Amino acid sequence: MRTLVIIPTYNESAALPTAISRTRAAVPEADLLIVDDGSPDGTGEIADAAAASDDHVNVLHRTAKDGLGRAYVAGFGWALERGYDLVVEMDADGSHRPEQLPAMLERAARPDAPDLVLGSRWVPGGEVVNWPAHRQLLSRGGNLYVRLALGLPVEDATGGFRVYRADTLRRLPLGEIESQGYCFQVDMTWRVHRLGGRIVETPISFVERAEGESKMSRDIVLEALWRTTVWGLAHRGGQLRQGLRRVLCADRRRRVG
Ligand code: GDD
Ligand code: MN
Repeated sequence: MRTLVIIPTYNESAALPTAISRTRAAVPEADLLIVDDGSPDGTGEIADAAAASDDHVNVLHRTAKDGLGRAYVAGFGWALERGYDLVVEMDADGSHRPEQLPAMLERAARPDAPDLVLGSRWVPGGEVVNWPAHRQLLSRGGNLYVRLALGLPVEDATGGFRVYRADTLRRLPLGEIESQGYCFQVDMTWRVHRLGGRIVETPISFVERAEGESKMSRDIVLEALWRTTVWGLAHRGGQLRQGLRRVLCADRRRRVG
């Protein structure tokens, strides 16, 4: 199984070297792709230096901060063009432990492998370390809203530590994805689910970053809220129409028969 670990970066100069070395040590066969959005703090140059000294490390430079969603879509395209079998999403800031990757990859490579292996903070065995209470509340609240609005049977749809089968990504209209911020994670989970894809959650330990700053913002939260609401209304509306049609058909059959 050829594996690509995609790491999106924006101003991660302090954390990236460790992220690269830990990932290389944890999964030596895998290739890495750093997708940097022209970070002003020199993250792109650090990535270039790593790529120059290690054939497994690659860099995709984008010109401006354009959101996590677009960075990943570009990375997915890069992976599919090069024929990788498994595609990993991982944050650069140390929150996702590369040491947990071998178990996730093993799960994704079994003959009965699911379409998506989701590293989950909110299943038994999963945890968050040093995450402030307001972030825990936001994550739990957000995931509850996603479950209620979409009926998505997943505990951590917003998480960003995951393994996709490349074949599953190929079946998705990646060019149509409009989510820019972290709701991209929900968007992708929802798309895999609607495709009839199988999603398995494995517990992860999410550790709050020690260096740099989160890029979470009010706009990212608002985007997630309105997009999830729009998807939910479309989904529930569809369910309602289907239910009505079923009732009307049964009624017609009863009257005709
Ligand atoms: N290229 C690029 N462009 N990378 C970005 C951008 C962007 O616009 N925005 C964020 N990133 C990168 C960061 O540099 C980091 O590597 C990763 O995406 C995650 O960003 P953080 O800012 O560290 O996210 P967080 O810790 O607040 O959020 C966590 O929770 C979210 C909600 O559950 C992560 O687990 C996210 O993946 C998750 O969606
Ligand atoms: Mn983070």
